[in-house]
Amino acid sequence: MTTFDNFNYYNPTRIIFGKDTIGSLSTLIPKDKRVLFIYGGGSIKNNGVYTQVSEAMKEHTCFEFSGVEANPHFETLNKAVQLVRENNIDFILAVGGGSVIDGAKYVAAAALYDGDGWDILEWKHIVKKALPIGAVLTLPATGSESNGGSVITKAETHEKRFFKSEAVYPVFAIMNYTVMTTLSDRQLANGMVDTFVHTTEQYLTFPTDGMVQEGYAEALLRNVAALAKDWENRRTESWQKNLMWTSNQALNGLIGLGVPQDWATHMIGHELTAIYGLDHGQTLAIILPAVLRQMRLQKSKKLLKMGRNVFGLEGAALTEENTINKIEELFRSIGVKLTLTEYGIKADVEAVVNALKSHGMTALGETGAITPDVSACILQRAL
Ligand code: NZQ
Ligand code: ZN
Repeated sequence: MTTFDNFNYYNPTRIIFGKDTIGSLSTLIPKDKRVLFIYGGGSIKNNGVYTQVSEAMKEHTCFEFSGVEANPHFETLNKAVQLVRENNIDFILAVGGGSVIDGAKYVAAAALYDGDGWDILEWKHIVKKALPIGAVLTLPATGSESNGGSVITKAETHEKRFFKSEAVYPVFAIMNYTVMTTLSDRQLANGMVDTFVHTTEQYLTFPTDGMVQEGYAEALLRNVAALAKDWENRRTESWQKNLMWTSNQALNGLIGLGVPQDWATHMIGHELTAIYGLDHGQTLAIILPAVLRQMRLQKSKKLLKMGRNVFGLEGAALTEENTINKIEELFRSIGVKLTLTEYGIKADVEAVVNALKSHGMTALGETGAITPDVSACILQRAL
């Protein structure tokens, strides 16, 4: 049993959860702020969110920047950085899913940095200051609305990199689950997979004595399993509000405090999105089972604990392989594919491994045992 380490927990984001909450923007952002309202490809114009935000912001000096892509592009975001500088913007309002919120974090940090913004994603510039950010979440998945992470893609080179900083935690996150009605099944399923995988990456390592971290992670995993079982009710308010809250809790830092973590699935998945354009959630459903089978011995105790406490396996049925099968069944039950071939992708394992190497991802997993050779084995299993 691993004992959990000391930790230093900081999460300054105010959460405003529920119906009829977007109007509170008018008081959450001080009236003397010059605001840049950033959003994506236009989904907010189909579900009333754009109108609600505009109404709430009518007494503010507010500029707009639209067109932030899914897997937000560095090149696009730099245009927003320019807008911030030209108009003395001092508050960034992100309205969208993880991509818009991550994009806003980059803009907020890059606007206060004189060098090349890509330095932030290469960790050559460590972000210590950023403009304040507010978030209105429209897609539960990433937890970006109350964490300090951001993932940005350089379209020119097909590179997807991340940075983290305490300076980019949103000041507030409005989580109005009624905006989820316009999400497609594909996005709902992606959000469920992302939530599930964020939780496993902070849980499926070694057993620890962290009763809060272990127990809470299992509760979140059981939630996702229950929502998958209840997929036919995914258009109900109760289902949607529970997904929104569960997604947020899975990556706000709490369940990972002081415990071993394994982000291999995300790191390999990011390369697949960068090279083949798969959705973030789709890559995770392909890679997680492959990581678990590859690392089955190292993760044995935890796979059995999860099998018992999350999926209710017992007796002879309680095996590592059955736990992994249950995870795959869960993904399949919400319509998510499990191999690259199913997406019509003939992946070049060597190219993906080379991308991992060039990004320094050469010792992944809770013990650093996932070397490039091991990543190649994982990718072979995912073909
Ligand atoms: O661009 P719009 O028109 O808004 O459409 C989006 C987009 O096409 C649409 N959408 C969002 N809300 C909607 C909606 N459509 C209808 N109704 C709504 N209410 O959904 C599409 C996908 O949106 P996106 O923001 O890309 O999805 P998600 O929230 O899954 O974010 C994925 C990005 O977050 C990164 C991923 O790598 C990826 O780039 N991640 C960020 C993390 C973090 N900051 O902590 C951690 C995650 O592991 C993840 O890596
Ligand atoms: Zn994720």
